[in-house]
Amino acid sequence: MQIVKLIAETQSIIGKYKANGKRVGFIPTMGALHKGHLSLVAQSKKENDITVVSIFVNPTQFNNHNDLKTYPRLIDRDLELLSEYEPDLIFIPEVEEVYPEPDTRTFDFGYIENIMEGKSRPGHFNGVAQVVSKLFSYINPDNAYFGQKDFQQVAVIKQMTKDLDVNINIVACPIIREVDGLAMSSRNMLLSEAERKNATKISETLVKACNLVPDFNVSQLKDWVINEINNNTYLEVEYFEIVDDTTLKSIEKWEDSKNRVACITVQVGKVRLIDNISL
Ligand code: PAJ
Repeated sequence: MQIVKLIAETQSIIGKYKANGKRVGFIPTMGALHKGHLSLVAQSKKENDITVVSIFVNPTQFNNHNDLKTYPRLIDRDLELLSEYEPDLIFIPEVEEVYPEPDTRTFDFGYIENIMEGKSRPGHFNGVAQVVSKLFSYINPDNAYFGQKDFQQVAVIKQMTKDLDVNINIVACPIIREVDGLAMSSRNMLLSEAERKNATKISETLVKACNLVPDFNVSQLKDWVINEINNNTYLEVEYFEIVDDTTLKSIEKWEDSKNRVACITVQVGKVRLIDNISL
């Protein structure tokens, strides 16, 4: 397990692997790792000769300064967790090297960046595209692994690879959950004990919503979910949308889509949690 900070060194190591015909799998992360991240590492290990993990809290994707400031940074613990999975290379660049000057690139993903997370966090997906495009150019992986927990991020990254015409296969991996159903997230550790306990209501409600599809129309189900969660004093729904899993278009009738995903963002105290479920 090699730990590298410099871009040029990373490029040189990976260049040698590639020259030897090795397949490279890549998992970009912002650290504060949990089993969700580690599941991506495990999948890459199965499907590639070489697995590269990056840890980089990307400032350009945070539209809220406090969120960037409080984002957990636990590098020693991360390295310890990763050592059990033995990725070949861990890339931990410095902000100054990734952004020697401000990145002025603007990506245009049209509709998919202007709904849900894109609408709530203006500039967020542009920042994600800035950093992931840079990381892709340093690492040039064959496969890159992303979690379905960030359902819209996967759509944005797929669109970006298409637009940039890079030959990288984007692999979407299932959501890993805590025993009580809460989707694993680096932000969960910022919850108070009471918030953490009440946050289980989010996934619980999504599971119930799945079972209510035959009884409710789309608008009734949306109202039901929002009320159910907002009735809990610790939780406040920011948005809840039911969309087609490919176009991300909001659906109005169940017949509008066969592959529906219910996406939610909930404010739990100061912490913003996202989750989704296939309906
Ligand atoms: P981060 O939130 O650290 O997540 C890194 C990867 O882990 C993402 O692909 C995310 O979807 C996945 N992940 C997080 N929680 C998961 C869970 N419970 N189950 C499965 N996968 C999970 O997403 C980012 O970082 C950043 O935006 C990044 C892509 C690294 C760009 O900065």
